[in-house]
Amino acid sequence: MKVSIIGGGGLVGSMTAYALQCGGVVSQICLIDANKELALGQATDLLHGASLVADQRISVGDFEDIASSNVVVITAGLRRKPDESRLDLINRNVSLFVGILDQVKSAGLKENAYLVVVSNPVDVLTYLAVQCSGLPWQRIIGLGTQLDTARFRSYLARRLKVSATQVQAMILGEHGDSMVPIWSSATVAGLPMDQWPGFNPVVQREVFEETKTAGAQVIKLKGGSGFAVGLSIREVVHALALDSRRILPVSTLQQGAYGVRDVCLSVPTVVGCGGAREHVELALTQKELLGIQQSAKVLDDTIDQVEQRIGRPKNGQTPAAAPALPSASRDGRVIPRSAWQKVAGS
Ligand SMILES: NC(=O)c1ccc[n+]([C@@H]2O[C@H](COP(=O)([O-])OP(=O)(O)OC[C@H]3O[C@@H](n4cnc5c(N)ncnc54)[C@H](O)[C@@H]3O)[C@@H](O)[C@H]2O)c1
Repeated sequence: MKVSIIGGGGLVGSMTAYALQCGGVVSQICLIDANKELALGQATDLLHGASLVADQRISVGDFEDIASSNVVVITAGLRRKPDESRLDLINRNVSLFVGILDQVKSAGLKENAYLVVVSNPVDVLTYLAVQCSGLPWQRIIGLGTQLDTARFRSYLARRLKVSATQVQAMILGEHGDSMVPIWSSATVAGLPMDQWPGFNPVVQREVFEETKTAGAQVIKLKGGSGFAVGLSIREVVHALALDSRRILPVSTLQQGAYGVRDVCLSVPTVVGCGGAREHVELALTQKELLGIQQSAKVLDDTIDQVEQRIGRPKNGQTPAAAPALPSASRDGRVIPRSAWQKVAGS
């Protein structure tokens, strides 16, 4: 399996490559980056360790490599400028992302390729990828709350003084401020977490707060997330490569589970051959359910704002000056994907 990482020279991209190298499952890792020298540096460094880990082919590449890739991971993204609003950053990243999608499409994605979206705002960009890439929605997987969930489990384990891999608890919804902690099904070694010694509402509140602010904390301390996000991406790529059908909180186009549709966000999803095989809908508390629906609303509003700012075409007409952004109205709720693809490919 060949995995190409667009943005592979950057922090997240290179850490993903390293995690995949240590995992030893995929056979080829190709780094693509606008900064070719940086990508070459990362690939060279990885190559040096190849003899110590796994028999993988590691290379630095170009968009031409997309045509032979089984998985394309997109980690290319921009960082916020001083005084820039969140929405301005979102719009700049959307423009960059749509440009990358155009290049990916021109290069010719395999029909059975998978697209893994990591760049932020990940849920919004995953939605755009569903509209523009030409792949079935099941093959487009946003990292969603994978990393938030990993952080949540690790922080809970530290607080309860138990083994991190035995803590099971998910964060669902938006990868952002409206993310939702799912306490109703949280366990330690399969035992109910709410009965665990030391577990109480204060711990709940503090651990969730730690999780929510973890990204900002890491950016403040070291510039950006690397190790944990690389491992989180690896879990998704391995589930696809091995058809392991793991249930992961990845962001995909919602089809009605938990009362949410036509937006990409994280719900428990069976990931394996074919991509997102199923959304798992289980009973949640009313607060959790409303939380997921609130995330959907936040994302819906953000996409509307982005579309308006970038030049959302009215009545299905593409304005001449519009960037290669999808033209179909989201108000229809049912996505006329053929229409979007036609515009995105033009
Ligand atoms: N979804 C998540 O959980 C999660 C977690 C961490 C970071 N992120 C996001 O990942 C993205 C990357 O973060 P980072 O810390 O690696 O940033 P970074 O600046 O270290 O790396 C980004 C890389 O993208 C490259 N790039 C920019 N435009 C490109 C283009 N058109 N084609 C190819 N490469 C291009 C840059 O040269 C750079 O090497 C950001 O959007 C960040 O917010 C997401």
